[in-house]
Amino acid sequence: MSETWSPQQYDKLNEYRHRPFAELTSRLGTSNPGVVVDLGCGSGGHTLELAGRWPDARFIGVDSSAEMLEQARRNDHLGLVEWVQEDVESWDPGEAGAPVDVILANSLLQWVPSHMRLIPGWVAALAPGGWFAMQVPGNFNAPSHTLLREIAAKSPRAAELLPRLARGEAVSEPAVYLFLLAGLGCDVDAWETTYQHILDPGGDRGEMVLEWTKGTALLPVFEVLKDEAERADFVAAYGAALLRAYPRAPFGTVFALRRIFAVAHKKPAAG
Ligand SMILES: C[S@@+](CC[C@H](N)C(=O)[O-])C[C@H]1O[C@@H](n2cnc3c(N)ncnc32)[C@H](O)[C@@H]1O
Repeated sequence: MSETWSPQQYDKLNEYRHRPFAELTSRLGTSNPGVVVDLGCGSGGHTLELAGRWPDARFIGVDSSAEMLEQARRNDHLGLVEWVQEDVESWDPGEAGAPVDVILANSLLQWVPSHMRLIPGWVAALAPGGWFAMQVPGNFNAPSHTLLREIAAKSPRAAELLPRLARGEAVSEPAVYLFLLAGLGCDVDAWETTYQHILDPGGDRGEMVLEWTKGTALLPVFEVLKDEAERADFVAAYGAALLRAYPRAPFGTVFALRRIFAVAHKKPAAG
């Protein structure tokens, strides 16, 4: 199942997406990695930030979306990263041609239902002393997602929409990632944080929860509803429900977003 990503829509909310990336990568205890792979690198802003942190490393950014990679290449003025269009389900760490020191998967694995089966192969491919870091949203039972499923269930296209909205089932609790990664012989730090984002404090940016979901949660809906009128009806119903669920406070719209993090450190070679 593949969604059409829009870097313009996704990047509108970068200010809120940066903090979980920064908190995740602050736990990487390496100062001079040789090879860094950013899986699901998107439009590359975070990959390039890490390239600034580790200027001597070789960087590979992997993403399945041609649109996101096109933007990533445009953002990479200095040609710091090797951008690779590939599905992470088929990505072979051997393609790097050298042991990988850091594998990052920031806000990717909620889109990859098979990820519990893929992680062991990625950890195995890490160099001794290497790092794996992942972050996924854990908000699939929040109103932003339950309302989406409720409106999809009432749609004449419900049979096509609902299976595509079951993505949350792919995301596990922090302890599940902890046990998986510790079982692979890593030292693990796993945690969760619920961010109370204050969207649009100035009150001049429109329906911001809807804008947020247009860049992510609504993508599977847009893959089904190609007809403009059909899509507009769905978005209008969903937007109205979001306004009721996330009323505007005098200081902005509060959007609570739970995120799940895990950082694994593979043991260095003995001796
Ligand atoms: C939410 S964005 C995260 C982008 C980036 N990691 C960041 O920190 O902003 C998810 C990205 O994962 C990519 N993606 C989703 N499923 C994928 C898959 N199976 N293989 C490779 N990339 C995938 C999408 O194209 C999108 O660019």
